[in-house]
Amino acid sequence: MNEIPHGTVQEQTFYEQVGGEETFRRLVHRFYEGVAGDPLLRPMYPEEDLGPAEERLALFLMQYWGGPRTYSENRGHPRLRMRHAPFAVDRAAHDAWLTHMRAAVDELGLTEEQDRTLWTYLTYAAASMVNRAD
Ligand code: HEM
Repeated sequence: MNEIPHGTVQEQTFYEQVGGEETFRRLVHRFYEGVAGDPLLRPMYPEEDLGPAEERLALFLMQYWGGPRTYSENRGHPRLRMRHAPFAVDRAAHDAWLTHMRAAVDELGLTEEQDRTLWTYLTYAAASMVNRAD
């Protein structure tokens, strides 16, 4: 057990607050179940197997929220806009992505504040990924 000296404030990352790796893996797994059945999004993913894409997104989100830095150890700097450039992320793709993400977030059982924190980020990030006009 870690000893926490009296009078110190225990600082927790958002990653830890929401339940760590298990929570992010659940989120991304549920999200990719949605992608797998989506006629617009599924063909955008170049690999037959969505498993590796699921792993990359899970590791990225874990790192972003203060968890292990495995994503960057494997993939380098995220540069997400650049990495999405080959894919036609238009308004429809953006909306579909967020629809599946919303369903996945809903199943996490987060507090209202945690939900708002995560969702605000995801909606801003999704908007910033749009790279094609309608
Ligand atoms: C707005 C709609 C979006 C679409 C249609 C989309 C689609 C894609 C596609 C087709 C890939 C390639 C699959 C792969 O090889 O990993 C990908 C990769 C990825 N996406 Fe998205 N994406 C979207 C938004 C986002 C957002 C908002 C984030 C972050 C919050 C994100 C994070 C990632 C990450 C981390 C990867 C893997 C990058 C790598 O290391 O190669 N994406 N996305």
